[in-house]
Amino acid sequence: MPTAVRSPAEDIAEVLIDADTIRTKVKELGQSIAADHRDREPVLISILKGALPFLADLMRETPIQLSLDFLEVSSYGSGTSSSGVVRILKDLARPIEGRDVIVIEDILDTGRTLSYVLDHLRGQHPAALGLCVLLDKPARRVVPVDIDYRGFEIPDKFVVGYGLDFAERYRNLPFVGVLKPEVYAGLA
Ligand code: IMP
Ligand code: MG
Repeated sequence: MPTAVRSPAEDIAEVLIDADTIRTKVKELGQSIAADHRDREPVLISILKGALPFLADLMRETPIQLSLDFLEVSSYGSGTSSSGVVRILKDLARPIEGRDVIVIEDILDTGRTLSYVLDHLRGQHPAALGLCVLLDKPARRVVPVDIDYRGFEIPDKFVVGYGLDFAERYRNLPFVGVLKPEVYAGLA
Protein backbone atom coordinates (compact mmCIF):
# COMPACT_ATOMS: atom_id res chain seq x y z
CA MET A 1 0.00 0.00 0.00
CA PRO A 2 1.27 3.54 -0.75
CA THR A 3 1.92 5.65 2.36
CA ALA A 4 -0.79 8.22 3.05
CA VAL A 5 0.02 11.85 2.25
CA ARG A 6 0.05 13.89 5.43
CA SER A 7 -2.30 16.88 5.65
CA PRO A 8 -0.54 20.29 5.57
CA ALA A 9 -1.43 20.98 9.23
CA GLU A 10 0.37 17.80 10.31
CA ASP A 11 3.68 19.27 9.10
CA ILE A 12 3.41 22.35 11.34
CA ALA A 13 5.62 22.54 14.46
CA GLU A 14 4.23 25.82 15.80
CA VAL A 15 1.39 28.24 14.97
CA LEU A 16 2.90 31.73 14.97
CA ILE A 17 -0.23 33.78 14.14
CA ASP A 18 -3.67 32.19 14.37
CA ALA A 19 -6.59 32.85 12.03
CA ASP A 20 -8.50 35.10 14.47
CA THR A 21 -5.45 37.29 15.08
CA ILE A 22 -4.93 37.61 11.32
CA ARG A 23 -8.60 38.54 10.81
CA THR A 24 -8.47 41.31 13.44
CA LYS A 25 -5.28 42.76 11.97
CA VAL A 26 -6.57 42.64 8.38
CA LYS A 27 -9.64 44.56 9.50
CA GLU A 28 -7.44 47.30 11.02
CA LEU A 29 -5.30 47.51 7.88
CA GLY A 30 -8.38 47.79 5.66
CA GLN A 31 -9.78 50.61 7.82
CA SER A 32 -6.47 52.52 7.60
CA ILE A 33 -6.21 52.10 3.84
CA ALA A 34 -9.84 53.22 3.43
CA ALA A 35 -9.32 56.30 5.63
CA ASP A 36 -6.20 57.35 3.67
CA HIS A 37 -7.59 56.74 0.14
CA ARG A 38 -11.32 57.43 0.40
CA ASP A 39 -11.65 59.73 -2.63
CA ARG A 40 -8.68 58.39 -4.56
CA GLU A 41 -10.00 55.08 -5.91
CA PRO A 42 -6.66 53.30 -5.45
CA VAL A 43 -5.37 50.29 -7.39
CA LEU A 44 -4.33 47.44 -5.12
CA ILE A 45 -1.48 45.63 -6.85
CA SER A 46 -0.78 42.23 -5.52
CA ILE A 47 2.14 39.97 -6.12
CA LEU A 48 1.13 36.44 -7.01
CA LYS A 49 0.82 33.95 -5.57
CA GLY A 50 1.66 34.41 -1.89
CA ALA A 51 -0.41 37.57 -1.32
CA LEU A 52 -3.64 36.05 -2.67
CA PRO A 53 -5.47 35.18 0.60
CA PHE A 54 -4.27 38.42 2.20
CA LEU A 55 -5.56 40.48 -0.73
CA ALA A 56 -8.88 38.62 -0.81
CA ASP A 57 -9.50 39.31 2.89
CA LEU A 58 -8.05 42.83 2.90
CA MET A 59 -10.09 44.16 -0.01
CA ARG A 60 -13.31 43.05 1.71
CA GLU A 61 -12.29 45.05 4.79
CA THR A 62 -11.54 48.17 2.68
CA PRO A 63 -14.96 49.80 2.12
CA ILE A 64 -14.07 52.33 -0.63
CA GLN A 65 -13.98 52.27 -4.44
CA LEU A 66 -10.83 50.44 -5.56
CA SER A 67 -9.56 48.20 -8.32
CA LEU A 68 -7.12 45.30 -8.50
CA ASP A 69 -4.19 44.37 -10.68
CA PHE A 70 -1.54 41.67 -10.44
CA LEU A 71 2.13 41.10 -10.94
CA GLU A 72 3.84 37.77 -10.81
CA VAL A 73 7.52 37.70 -9.99
CA SER A 74 9.95 34.96 -9.23
CA SER A 75 12.60 35.49 -6.57
CA TYR A 76 13.02 32.15 -4.82
CA GLY A 77 13.48 28.70 -6.23
CA SER A 78 11.94 26.01 -4.11
CA GLY A 79 14.37 26.56 -1.22
CA THR A 80 14.11 28.85 1.78
CA SER A 81 16.74 31.47 0.91
CA SER A 82 16.62 34.31 -1.59
CA SER A 83 18.46 33.98 -4.89
CA GLY A 84 18.63 37.76 -5.25
CA VAL A 85 17.48 37.39 -8.86
CA VAL A 86 14.03 38.88 -9.53
CA ARG A 87 12.14 38.28 -12.77
CA ILE A 88 8.72 39.63 -13.81
CA LEU A 89 6.68 36.63 -14.97
CA LYS A 90 3.41 38.57 -15.46
CA ASP A 91 3.09 42.35 -15.75
CA LEU A 92 0.14 44.68 -15.01
CA ALA A 93 -2.98 44.52 -17.19
CA ARG A 94 -3.66 48.30 -17.09
CA PRO A 95 -1.58 51.50 -16.92
CA ILE A 96 -1.16 53.04 -13.46
CA GLU A 97 -0.01 56.51 -14.52
CA GLY A 98 -1.60 59.14 -12.26
CA ARG A 99 -3.24 56.53 -9.98
CA ASP A 100 -2.79 55.90 -6.28
CA VAL A 101 -1.16 52.48 -6.11
CA ILE A 102 -0.86 50.28 -3.03
CA VAL A 103 1.26 47.17 -3.33
CA ILE A 104 -0.10 44.31 -1.25
CA GLU A 105 2.50 41.69 -0.30
CA ASP A 106 2.58 38.69 1.99
CA ILE A 107 6.05 39.16 3.50
CA LEU A 108 8.99 41.52 3.45
CA ASP A 109 12.13 39.49 4.00
CA THR A 110 15.44 40.63 2.45
CA GLY A 111 13.56 43.38 0.59
CA ARG A 112 15.10 42.42 -2.77
CA THR A 113 11.81 41.46 -4.42
CA LEU A 114 9.87 44.48 -3.21
CA SER A 115 12.55 47.05 -3.95
CA TYR A 116 12.72 45.71 -7.50
CA VAL A 117 8.93 45.72 -7.86
CA LEU A 118 8.56 49.22 -6.37
CA ASP A 119 11.20 50.60 -8.77
CA HIS A 120 9.43 48.90 -11.67
CA LEU A 121 6.10 50.50 -10.67
CA ARG A 122 7.62 53.93 -9.90
CA GLY A 123 8.86 53.99 -13.50
CA GLN A 124 5.21 53.94 -14.64
CA HIS A 125 4.49 57.27 -12.87
CA PRO A 126 1.71 56.54 -10.39
CA ALA A 127 0.47 59.60 -8.43
CA ALA A 128 1.35 57.80 -5.18
CA LEU A 129 2.94 54.45 -4.38
CA GLY A 130 2.30 52.79 -1.02
CA LEU A 131 3.18 49.40 0.44
CA CYS A 132 1.12 47.09 2.65
CA VAL A 133 2.75 43.91 3.96
CA LEU A 134 1.18 41.33 6.23
CA LEU A 135 4.48 40.11 7.66
CA ASP A 136 7.76 41.93 8.21
CA LYS A 137 10.96 40.02 9.00
CA PRO A 138 13.33 42.96 9.72
CA ALA A 139 16.24 40.79 10.88
CA ARG A 140 16.78 39.58 7.30
CA ARG A 141 16.66 42.96 5.52
CA VAL A 142 19.38 43.54 2.90
CA VAL A 143 17.72 46.36 0.91
CA PRO A 144 15.83 49.04 2.91
CA VAL A 145 12.11 49.34 2.02
CA ASP A 146 9.55 51.74 3.57
CA ILE A 147 6.31 50.10 4.76
CA ASP A 148 3.10 52.17 4.92
CA TYR A 149 0.83 49.46 6.36
CA ARG A 150 2.38 46.61 8.36
CA GLY A 151 0.53 43.63 9.79
CA PHE A 152 2.98 41.80 12.06
CA GLU A 153 6.69 41.91 12.76
CA ILE A 154 7.95 38.32 12.99
CA PRO A 155 11.22 36.73 14.09
CA ASP A 156 13.77 35.30 11.68
CA LYS A 157 11.94 32.03 11.01
CA PHE A 158 10.78 30.57 7.70
CA VAL A 159 6.98 30.62 7.86
CA VAL A 160 4.21 29.04 5.79
CA GLY A 161 0.43 29.34 5.51
CA TYR A 162 -2.07 32.08 4.65
CA GLY A 163 -0.54 32.21 1.16
CA LEU A 164 3.09 31.55 2.06
CA ASP A 165 4.59 28.37 0.66
CA PHE A 166 7.43 25.95 1.00
CA ALA A 167 7.99 24.29 -2.39
CA GLU A 168 4.45 25.47 -3.40
CA ARG A 169 2.82 23.65 -0.48
CA TYR A 170 1.04 24.95 2.66
CA ARG A 171 -0.46 28.09 1.04
CA ASN A 172 -3.93 26.86 2.01
CA LEU A 173 -3.34 26.81 5.78
CA PRO A 174 -5.58 29.45 7.43
CA PHE A 175 -2.83 30.50 9.89
CA VAL A 176 0.88 31.39 9.74
CA GLY A 177 3.12 28.70 11.17
CA VAL A 178 6.56 27.17 11.25
CA LEU A 179 7.26 23.79 9.63
CA LYS A 180 8.73 20.82 11.42
CA PRO A 181 12.49 20.72 10.73
CA GLU A 182 12.29 17.32 9.04
CA VAL A 183 10.10 18.84 6.32
CA TYR A 184 12.86 21.27 5.27
CA ALA A 185 15.37 18.50 5.45
CA GLY A 186 13.30 16.65 2.86
CA LEU A 187 13.16 13.61 5.14
CA ALA A 188 9.41 13.62 5.63
P1 IMP B 1 12.59 38.99 -0.30
O1 IMP B 1 12.92 39.39 -1.70
O2 IMP B 1 13.76 38.29 0.36
O3 IMP B 1 12.08 40.12 0.57
O4 IMP B 1 11.53 37.83 -0.36
C1 IMP B 1 10.24 38.05 -0.69
C2 IMP B 1 9.57 36.78 -1.12
O5 IMP B 1 10.27 35.62 -0.61
C3 IMP B 1 8.18 36.68 -0.55
O6 IMP B 1 7.23 37.23 -1.43
C4 IMP B 1 8.00 35.18 -0.38
O7 IMP B 1 7.55 34.62 -1.58
C5 IMP B 1 9.38 34.66 -0.09
N1 IMP B 1 9.62 34.50 1.35
C6 IMP B 1 10.41 35.22 2.15
N2 IMP B 1 10.38 34.78 3.41
C7 IMP B 1 9.53 33.73 3.42
C8 IMP B 1 9.05 32.85 4.47
O8 IMP B 1 9.38 32.92 5.65
N3 IMP B 1 8.17 31.89 4.05
C9 IMP B 1 7.75 31.75 2.76
N4 IMP B 1 8.16 32.56 1.78
C10 IMP B 1 9.05 33.54 2.10
MG1 MG C 1 5.83 35.19 -2.67
